[in-house]
Amino acid sequence: MKTTDQVALDDWYAIATASELTSRTVRTRLLGQDIEYMLSEGGSPLVREILDDGRHGPALPVKERYGCLFTSLGTPRKDIVHIEEAEEEDRRFVPCGWVTMRASGLRVVENFLDMAHFPFVHTDILGSEPHTEVPGYQSEIRRDVDEVWATNCTFFQPRIAATEDKGDFVHLTYRVPSPFVVMLYRVCPTSPNRLDAIALFIQPMEEGLCRAQPVMYLVDQTSTHKSLLNFEQVIFLQDRIIVENQRPLLLPLEPRAEIPTRADSSSIAYRRWLKEKGIRFGTTAGGY
Ligand SMILES: [Fe+2]
Repeated sequence: MKTTDQVALDDWYAIATASELTSRTVRTRLLGQDIEYMLSEGGSPLVREILDDGRHGPALPVKERYGCLFTSLGTPRKDIVHIEEAEEEDRRFVPCGWVTMRASGLRVVENFLDMAHFPFVHTDILGSEPHTEVPGYQSEIRRDVDEVWATNCTFFQPRIAATEDKGDFVHLTYRVPSPFVVMLYRVCPTSPNRLDAIALFIQPMEEGLCRAQPVMYLVDQTSTHKSLLNFEQVIFLQDRIIVENQRPLLLPLEPRAEIPTRADSSSIAYRRWLKEKGIRFGTTAGGY
């Protein structure tokens, strides 16, 4: 059943890897609604709702961006996030593949923002004991662009990217341009004046079920495609265990539902921003 959450409906969502589309119909779900997508006879992507009686609804809006097919069940108020780095021709474009998680997509975003779990979940990759402290950083809701940013983030990592095998403090910036999209900018170890850009596009299928695809724009001419994919997939499968075991399953937006620490300031800003928007799908308030 399609959500009644108009805020969630009026947004763009990545639902497929564009290069994988064929004339064969693929069925999936978005915000509780069954949909299908395919390449039409003219070769352009077609996405439609599947109505309760099995008939097709009218064609939904589609856009191809960042290697993904995006659609919307409503009337988006904002365009899909603009990623400047995607336009730089010397970057490696690495779509990492979809991972399905029995979790709220909002929980997946919040986990992506969280540095405190690095030493415990991504042990000896993105963090290691005894370097467990999250140094102070700034979080803000940027009103002019309606995004959440966390800046000046640093964290000790034993192996900060696929190209590196020794530890150092990484410098990170997080950006949340829409409720189900989150980005990470990382000072590039092989080119310190540039930033690697990693976007995580989430397809919220049901309130407690989503698919997510990390898409990377890297300044890295040395790693093999396979090693980049392996690195990201190991990280992501570790995260899946964590987000699938969080309780409550859906994200609480009430300020006192979970006790925050200083390291959680990005999560606090994210939840405040979601609450201001009035989003309900994937929260404990419920999307129906
Ligand atoms: Fe993680």
